[in-house]
Amino acid sequence: MKVFTTTGEVAGHYLKCRCEAPGFVPTMGALHEGHLSLVRSAITKCQMVAVSIFVNPTQFNDPEDLKKYPRTPEEDLSMLSGVMRNDDFVFMPSPEEIYPGPDTRRFDFGTLDKVMEGLHRPGHFNGVAQVVSRLFDIIKPSSAFFGQKDFQQLTIIKELARRSYPGIRIVACPIKREKDGLAMSSRNKRLLPEHRERAGEIYKTLKGVAGMAREKEIDELKSFVSDRISKIPGFRLEYFEVADGGNLTPLNMKSEMADNRRYYACIALFAGEIRLIDNIRISLR
Ligand code: PAJ
Repeated sequence: MKVFTTTGEVAGHYLKCRCEAPGFVPTMGALHEGHLSLVRSAITKCQMVAVSIFVNPTQFNDPEDLKKYPRTPEEDLSMLSGVMRNDDFVFMPSPEEIYPGPDTRRFDFGTLDKVMEGLHRPGHFNGVAQVVSRLFDIIKPSSAFFGQKDFQQLTIIKELARRSYPGIRIVACPIKREKDGLAMSSRNKRLLPEHRERAGEIYKTLKGVAGMAREKEIDELKSFVSDRISKIPGFRLEYFEVADGGNLTPLNMKSEMADNRRYYACIALFAGEIRLIDNIRISLR
């Protein structure tokens, strides 16, 4: 496994090894098994794999969140060296390498970035699109791997690729969970022990929703979720929506749904000061 910090080193590597364009896994580090599952999937499908580790300042709408975002570069490299091969590489750029000047680009994804995370984290997806497009330009991958954990991000990246990077195949990877069902996340490291202990309840609630969805209306599912989450000490629901998996439009009534579409129950909440998201696919009929 190689480690590069500059665009020039990446270009030099491509000239030297003359491999096919790599499979690419962008991350912000503080790696866990969820990230590694993406890397493993890329390794089975691609001759060469690139993983980036870059905590992207432009996607943090809260400066405190950026400051406190976990950074564990040594552990990250040691985890990756256990799975990556000789010509695979890690790209760990400085902020100046990614943003030589201020990035003033404004992306508009129509309704996709106006709902759920987009509503509650203004500017977040613009920052994600900025960094992912910069990384795509530098790494020039043939495919890129994203987790379904960040379901809205995945949908927006598919749209970005459809518009601007038609040669890059976007591969969706399933959510990796802890034993109690909590979706793995770099932010889990920051949970207080008493919140971590109760965090399995989030997935149990989503599974409850999936089980009830055929019989209940959307507003009944919403009250079920807000009741369950409000009973967990220290937890505060930010939103719960049942959204169309393609255009992300949140449903108000089951009568709005169509048989040929997929639907996802999406949740965002605070456990103490830590913001967590999760989702589950549901059948409403
Ligand atoms: P980060 O949160 O580090 O996640 C990197 C990738 O890992 C994303 O595609 C995310 O969906 C996936 N991932 C995280 N937890 C997962 C889990 N439990 N199971 C499966 N996949 C999981 O998402 C970002 O970074 C950034 O926004 C990024 C795309 C790198 C742009 O800065």
